[in-house]
Amino acid sequence: MRAIAIRKIGDVPELMDLPKPTPGEGEVLVHLGAAGVNPFDWKVADGALQGRMPYVFPFVLGVDGAGAVEEVGPGVKRLQLKDGVFGQFLHPPAGIGTYAEYVVAPETLAISVRPRGMYNDQASAVPTPGMTALDALDRLALEKRQSLLILGAGGGVGSFAVQLASNRGITTLAASKGPNRDFLHKLGASRFYDASAKSFLDDVKLGYPNGVDAILDLANRGPEFEQHLALLKPGGTVASTIGAATPEVVGPRGFQGVNINLQPTFELLDRLSKEFSSGKLRIPMEEKIPLAGAVEAIERSRAGKIRGKIVLTI
Ligand SMILES: NC(=O)c1ccc[n+]([C@@H]2O[C@H](COP(=O)([O-])OP(=O)(O)OC[C@H]3O[C@@H](n4cnc5c(N)ncnc54)[C@H](OP(=O)(O)O)[C@@H]3O)[C@@H](O)[C@H]2O)c1
Repeated sequence: MRAIAIRKIGDVPELMDLPKPTPGEGEVLVHLGAAGVNPFDWKVADGALQGRMPYVFPFVLGVDGAGAVEEVGPGVKRLQLKDGVFGQFLHPPAGIGTYAEYVVAPETLAISVRPRGMYNDQASAVPTPGMTALDALDRLALEKRQSLLILGAGGGVGSFAVQLASNRGITTLAASKGPNRDFLHKLGASRFYDASAKSFLDDVKLGYPNGVDAILDLANRGPEFEQHLALLKPGGTVASTIGAATPEVVGPRGFQGVNINLQPTFELLDRLSKEFSSGKLRIPMEEKIPLAGAVEAIERSRAGKIRGKIVLTI
């Protein structure tokens, strides 16, 4: 099968011809139609899970994908042959990835049947960013009309979080360094802020002089993360997807800090499917690239220059 893989950590990924896997006990073999590109993909290929999970080489990149169940292993109960599925396929050993024609995975993972009207390319864009956005909003537990400032709103998690927050009646303030004003308003943002403007902090303070109720920061750590805390109301909550909301930084200022560490489940996926089926969730798939273009997609993801989602068609 064709796959984008590396032979050792740090290699530049390349298109390889690898053996088609076979499903073991409790596993399904999925014939993939598309794979979503996430920053997590290159972070894992750079060694982010070393010490937490064994690695297998050649290491096939990618965790999100969509396709059809082509074989089921013994003992599989929930999924069936020919089911059209999407999900997050990461399981030990790391390296059995979705940038490939086929992937095998235990059916207990966050893999679900795609809802009607959601095609493979769209579906592959959903799992990691959609579940992360949903998890973050659950943990922030904001009420209707409370304000949420989302930093790094133009990327994958942000473009789901803006929609899911707006759907809950939360006043959603989207901040982006990219030219994403129209894109984020269309997804439901109440206000857009240019986070690259010198006046950014003042711009937000003008509308929210007492501070916003919560911040979801998808992009910043260190001093950049800390300076945005000036925008939070006393006792407010800040969530980070990159571990920046540490007790040492957040606690002394009297804020609540939440570090998101996604635990993918098919229940989370099914909630996203419901939101899609009710017409309230648009899949922010902005670009489709053939599998062989994965290296370029990864470089753009590393540079943080992504609007919505890029998916690889297989
Ligand atoms: N902890 C978890 O469980 C978990 C789960 C999912 C994702 N994550 C992490 O959360 C982060 C966001 O994920 P994502 O899928 O939304 O990523 P993405 O699609 O690549 O979007 C990240 C966005 O952050 C902004 N950004 C600003 N400066 C950046 C820089 N120097 N480098 C990278 N991005 C920059 C950009 O948005 P603007 O153009 O709008 O400024 C960019 O589009 C990633 O680091 C990812 O690995 C963690």
